Amino acid sequence: MFNPVSPQGKVISDLFILILVIGGLVFALVVGLTFYAVWSGRRRARNAESGEPEQVSGNLKWEIAWTVGPAVLLAALFVPTLLAMNASDPNKEQNGEPDIIVVGHQWWWEYRYPKANVVTANEMHMPAGKQVLVKLESADVQHDFWVPQLGRKMDMYPDHPNYLYLQSDVPSTYLGGCAEYCGVEHAWMLLRVIVQPQNEFDAWLSHQAQPPVIGGPVAQVAASPVAVTAQTGVGTQEAAAGDPKRGAQVYLNNTCVNCHAISGTTSQAKVGPNLTYLGGRSVLGSGVVENNSANLARWILNAKSIKPGVLMPAYQLNPQDLRDLVAYLEAQK
Ligand code: CUA
Repeated sequence: MFNPVSPQGKVISDLFILILVIGGLVFALVVGLTFYAVWSGRRRARNAESGEPEQVSGNLKWEIAWTVGPAVLLAALFVPTLLAMNASDPNKEQNGEPDIIVVGHQWWWEYRYPKANVVTANEMHMPAGKQVLVKLESADVQHDFWVPQLGRKMDMYPDHPNYLYLQSDVPSTYLGGCAEYCGVEHAWMLLRVIVQPQNEFDAWLSHQAQPPVIGGPVAQVAASPVAVTAQTGVGTQEAAAGDPKRGAQVYLNNTCVNCHAISGTTSQAKVGPNLTYLGGRSVLGSGVVENNSANLARWILNAKSIKPGVLMPAYQLNPQDLRDLVAYLEAQK
C-alpha cells in the first residue's frame, strides 16, 4: 500500500503517511515526557527528606491543554480524511452496467465481464489507464476485496452489492487478498489482478468470449513423475501425453459438470470456478499452488491435500482418465 499505482490508492497512501508521521511525533512527545517525569521525579526523591517526590495533584492549565490539544488535532485530521474518502471513492454510476462483477465464494473469486459475456475465475484482467467500475457481490458469507496498490478495501455481502472504482496506470500483476475472515481457507483466498495495455486486454477478452477449440496438438502432461506416481501408483507412463479430446469426455462424464462450467459445452454449473481457459491461468486454488499439470492432477485427485477445507471432493480416476482430463483442462489457453 506504500506503492500505489492508482489515483485512489495514492490518496489513501498519502493520508496514511500523514497520520503515521503526526502519530509518530505525538508518540515521541508522550514517551519523551514520560521519561523526563520519571527521571526528574527520581532526582527530586533523592533530595527530599520523606524519600518521596513532591506530591502534585491537579493543574487546570495542563489539563485543559492535554484535552483541547488532541481534540483540535483530531478535528484537523478529519479534514484530509474527508478529502481522501471523497477522492478514493468517487461517485459511481450504480444504474449503468459495471465493467466487471466480482463474486466472492468460499474460497475463490468469480469474475464476470457482462458486456462481453465472459466469466472467469481467480485471475482478474483489466485495462491500464482506465477507471473500471467493479460491482462486488458474495455467493455465501461476507468477503472483502482488497488490492492495496489499486485502491480501497470493500466488503462483499450476499444481498447488498457494493461498487468500487479500480484503476492502474502501470500494466503489471497486482496481488491482494480477501480481507474479511470468511472461514477456514480465508488466508488462501488470494487475488491476482492482471493489468494490461488496452489492446492486450481487448485481445484477452475477445479470446475468452470464444469457446475453446480442443483437438490441436496433443498436450504433453509434463507431470513431475514423483508427485503423480505417489498419488496414482502409475509407473513410468506419467509423463506420457494425455489426449485432450478424450479428456473432454472424461470431464463431461464425471461429476465435474455438477459444479463447474466450460463455455461451448453442456457443462454450465456455477457452484465452483468456471474452468474455461484454465490452462491460461498461472495459479490453482485461488493462489495456493502454481498451475501446472502435476499440481492440477494432485488437485483433482485430492484437492484437500493442497488446500484443506476446500469444497471440491477427491476424485478416483484411473491414470489414463486423469492424464486425459488434465490435458483437456491445460490445453485451453
Ligand atoms: Cu473470503 Cu476471507
